[in-house]
Amino acid sequence: MAKVRIDPWGSFLIKDYEKLIGQYGLEPFTDELLKKIPSPNKLMRRKVVFAHTDFGRVLDAIIHKKEFYALTGIMPTMDKIHLGTKLVIENMKYFQEHGAKTYVLVADLEAAATREVSLEEGRKRALDFHIPAYIALGLDPKKTIFYFQSTNEKVKNLSFIFSNKVTLNEYRAIYGNSDPSRIMSSILQAGDILFPQLEQSMPGIVPVGPDQSVHILLTRDIANRTKSTFNFVPPSGIYHKFTPSLDGDLKMSKSKPHTCISIPDDIDEVYKKIRKALSGARKSLSDHRKYGAIPEKDMSFQLLMQHFIEDDKELKRIYEEYKSGKMTTGELKDITCEKLTEFMKDFEKKMEKAKKIVPKLNFIQ
Ligand code: TRP
Repeated sequence: MAKVRIDPWGSFLIKDYEKLIGQYGLEPFTDELLKKIPSPNKLMRRKVVFAHTDFGRVLDAIIHKKEFYALTGIMPTMDKIHLGTKLVIENMKYFQEHGAKTYVLVADLEAAATREVSLEEGRKRALDFHIPAYIALGLDPKKTIFYFQSTNEKVKNLSFIFSNKVTLNEYRAIYGNSDPSRIMSSILQAGDILFPQLEQSMPGIVPVGPDQSVHILLTRDIANRTKSTFNFVPPSGIYHKFTPSLDGDLKMSKSKPHTCISIPDDIDEVYKKIRKALSGARKSLSDHRKYGAIPEKDMSFQLLMQHFIEDDKELKRIYEEYKSGKMTTGELKDITCEKLTEFMKDFEKKMEKAKKIVPKLNFIQ
């Protein structure tokens, strides 16, 4: 990943994500593909989803109502959610609503091995926060299968069996790192991703950020190399762009809290952060009125586009008014703050409800 410097602005953004596609052998998410997808979600329509791996199989399953699954993992390292995770859940929700058997696992073993979060702590955080948060963000708890890595014997057995399907040299070439904890976690992750196919071979989709695409490629290799034993269908991937940091950097990160919005977040703090966020405004108001703003470079606009405005017409109106200079940066930021307040309040409400459901959920062993 270090080789590509991605600039989240305007056309640079497009060019650098293209480089990423080339470097990792991903397939671009094209207009032709988009046209075939039944009622695509806003991330697909707006090309926040920029690449995929072998999505055709999954599309075919959706269109012809054949069995397929969607799967994601929770890293229970924090007690907040990152906006990037919100994008994953939005795509998971799309697939769930289009017939996917849905799996959400808690990567408690990975968190223990790579972040020193004890299994007890990981379990507690997942039950108290992450799982209800995934439900609050739109997953249907009745239609979602949950499990913990640490208590799923089948997943652990799979990963043990898979361990002789990758060499250390290959591993280093893929990951550029060969810490035993990372090796174990990524092979365990391959176990997670293929586990739903133990009962029945079927296409699967794993929506992730581009930094996680390597896991999917590794899992596909493993599926191909265990064909004679398991007959797994190599899983498909769908990749979304990062949510940029409020200062315009490639990726929002909790290591720079002033430029990062998390879920939940304190609304007064959010206002302050939005006020300071990088804007696409001109140097003076008269220039702004004359030349208009550059929405592509504006982090408030990026937030609205990626996360907080569902309706394409509403987004287009804001884009055009801002671009023409009719709308000021202050006005745009007011809209962003309003939408964020609404979102945080709604999340809190849904979270309270979701927490009550957690004890009733079915965890598989
Ligand atoms: N490695 C993922 C992360 O860092 C967590 C994870 C574990 C996962 N197993 C998975 C994600 C399977 C997708 C599919 O967030």
